[in-house]
Amino acid sequence: MKQIPALGHYSGRILSGNFSDRLKARVLEAICHFHALEQFACAPIPYISAWREDDPAIWYEFAGRGLRDLLDCYGADLAEHLQKAIIGRCIYSDQRARKRVGKKILDHRQLSRRRDQLRNEGRNSGQVEAIYKIAAPTGNLHWLKDQATVELFVDDRICLSLGMLIDVTKEMQAEEELARVEKELRRHRHHLEVLVRDRTRELRAAQLEVVQRLARAAECRDQKTGDHITKMSRYCAMLGVAAGMRKNASDLLFHAAPMHDVGKIGITDSILLKPGPLDADEFELMKGHCVIGAKLLAGHNSDLMRTARSIALNHHEKWDGSGYPRGLSGKGIPLSGRVSAICDVFDALTSERPYKRAWPLDDAVLELQKERGRHFDPQLVDSFVENIHEIKAIHDDQAT
Ligand SMILES: [Fe+2]
Ligand SMILES: [Fe+2]
Repeated sequence: MKQIPALGHYSGRILSGNFSDRLKARVLEAICHFHALEQFACAPIPYISAWREDDPAIWYEFAGRGLRDLLDCYGADLAEHLQKAIIGRCIYSDQRARKRVGKKILDHRQLSRRRDQLRNEGRNSGQVEAIYKIAAPTGNLHWLKDQATVELFVDDRICLSLGMLIDVTKEMQAEEELARVEKELRRHRHHLEVLVRDRTRELRAAQLEVVQRLARAAECRDQKTGDHITKMSRYCAMLGVAAGMRKNASDLLFHAAPMHDVGKIGITDSILLKPGPLDADEFELMKGHCVIGAKLLAGHNSDLMRTARSIALNHHEKWDGSGYPRGLSGKGIPLSGRVSAICDVFDALTSERPYKRAWPLDDAVLELQKERGRHFDPQLVDSFVENIHEIKAIHDDQAT
């Protein structure tokens, strides 16, 4: 057997213990090899660690002077010193998964819990690759990359890890800095997203405010009571939900319905405010408010404006095709138009006007049912009647 070189920092127990010649020969060969490497002042720190398969304790058969100097430890308890010096985090990779050094960060406690698993990974794959962050007794922090091969000596129930520790402090500090910058960027991006969301919400609120005021402006010129557009839009939202619309779509109806008569801005006062009934020519002009409204609301791509335009254009269409301006019929009339037609007429009937009294709710419902399949979508009339309690609540709420 070869002689052990006079290493001075040899702390192993295999060569002097009751182990097989094969294991001893392997340890001795590795020691001589690593010792020779040290003589050439190679930068990586060689080491040989060993452990019994059934014992969590690890010890060093050999450790390069660089590691002992770093830990200021020259006794046999190098392994314990190293365990204690590992702080904060370590990064391990699973060689079998063909990952390079992984980004998974384990703190000291997690590392202890996973030690058996990591050992098994090393034993099964024959390789270990890890990076340790170490607090040296001097207070300095070091990152050491550990690259080792693991050999199992079944007869002795011993595992040998033959490896090199490479100082990768500069690289890892750069990586830490990168991680810090990325985290800062993520925080900044999140902040921007919140800002954009807030601004979008403000813009949407401003948009709603403008269109509602536009609807009010149109209503001021009419003889209807001030709460017509409020009630009518609440009926629309309720009926939309009853007709199976999603919350978003019924909300759109709620916000867009107030603009159904915005085209009346373009109707002359002599017709709009005429106390008596309109003659045929006047009525033809009055019908123009649908197209005028649609033109006013056209050209904007938002869901709100598209829905508002559709309601303005279609709220006087009739299920049987006798409505205006285009004489659409059945489901050829957009749903928003069919819903708003019912709600507009219902509120007109049940509201007081300078020229008429408010109809009782029951009479108004009878009128809707009479027009079921003629003026109005029959299914929507049924849904409206089925939800008459909610309709009544909206009516009474607005009436007080
Ligand atoms: Fe109208
Ligand atoms: Fe109306």
